[in-house]
Amino acid sequence: MKILLTGGAGYIGTHTCIELLNAGYDVVVADNFCNSQPESCKRAMEITCKQFPVYELDIRDQAKLEALFEKEKPEAAIHFAGLKAVGESVFKPLEYYENNIDATFVLLRVMEKFGAKKLVFSSSATVYGEQEVMPLVETMKCTGCTNPYGWTKYMIEQILRDYGKAHPDWSIVLLRYFNPVGAHESGMVGENPNGIPNNLMPRVTQAALGKIEKLGVFGDDYPTPDGTCLRDYIHVVDLAKGHVCAIRYAAENDGCDVFNLGTGVGYSVLAIINTFERVNNVKVPHEIAPRRPGDAAMAYSNPEKAARVLHWKAEKNLEDMCRDSWNWQQKNPNGY
Ligand code: NAD
Ligand code: UFG
Repeated sequence: MKILLTGGAGYIGTHTCIELLNAGYDVVVADNFCNSQPESCKRAMEITCKQFPVYELDIRDQAKLEALFEKEKPEAAIHFAGLKAVGESVFKPLEYYENNIDATFVLLRVMEKFGAKKLVFSSSATVYGEQEVMPLVETMKCTGCTNPYGWTKYMIEQILRDYGKAHPDWSIVLLRYFNPVGAHESGMVGENPNGIPNNLMPRVTQAALGKIEKLGVFGDDYPTPDGTCLRDYIHVVDLAKGHVCAIRYAAENDGCDVFNLGTGVGYSVLAIINTFERVNNVKVPHEIAPRRPGDAAMAYSNPEKAARVLHWKAEKNLEDMCRDSWNWQQKNPNGY
């Protein structure tokens, strides 16, 4: 089966290309490289010793996307393409709503036209909003988001649920990712954020490398065991394998369903820093800083549904995540 990966040159997309190819699927990538480089796909080809077509296009360009479908005839799509910087979305809400939601509309129209009826969507744990109870489970009512980026995920989930209801012969899988970190064990592909990163792990690696002077730990007075926030960090290779399972599931089941992809374990910011320092034998200069507005004290998943229905479970541990993140950063101090 051939699968279109929109945004397939990005961080999660590249790792998913590798796992799909390893599992025997054919892939085709469509990316406008607004947050990635063609080099990531070249490296995925090197790692797998397999070639795949890469189209430089904005998937909102319906004519170009149709031409791709005409030529490549993918039967399924994994829809990674989207803008993802939470902070930026607050200042550029229109760009986020336009890019993320229009891209989904165009993709659906083109898939419908060409009879491709299997779709996996990159959603986020952010759609849960603020919850009193942990772990987060798919049956919880989502309470809304605190930023336009999150709202695009929330809205696209709803659009896809409605679309699925109207088209019961489609298979739509919504994947709610928790906090992806780490890199392929080769160190050849990894996260390559533009400019100064906002997420914790790229900031940890850059602090270890001396590219940023000191990592700020945002708050140590949360109601958690060590006072710093708990998150469900998941190795990107495990996450990528979750997409292979989702595609297998979509091939065999119609309807629209939603799954958490997380480990089920919450680690604190200090636990990340301490583990990173220990396994890599390197210092991460850091200091306690004020809380970051909008951060929840805790967010971790109940991953049981994905285990039961998709037959997927995260296998890598925090040490693997820290080791592989550092391996990638050291081999590619300036990214691709
Ligand atoms: P990324 O920025 O590395 O990858 C997204 C890719 O989409 C990039 O290569 C970008 O160039 C491309 N793109 C964006 N708009 C496009 C358009 N209109 N047409 C064609 N290509 C376009 O991000 P990622 O971390 O790999 O995330 C992939 C998906 O997972 C995103 O939808 C993101 O919102 C979602 N997600 C990511 C995280 C995370 O922490 N990384 C967490 C939850 C959900
Ligand atoms: N943190 C620091 N210092 C930093 C960066 C982060 O202490 O320099 C802390 C944050 O306060 C938070 C934790 O590290 O407690 C993780 O922060 P990230 O920014 O890496 O991740 P978030 O959990 O805030 O957000 C991530 C994704 C979002 C997604 C959300 C929910 O970045 O896209 O998970 O899934 F919406």
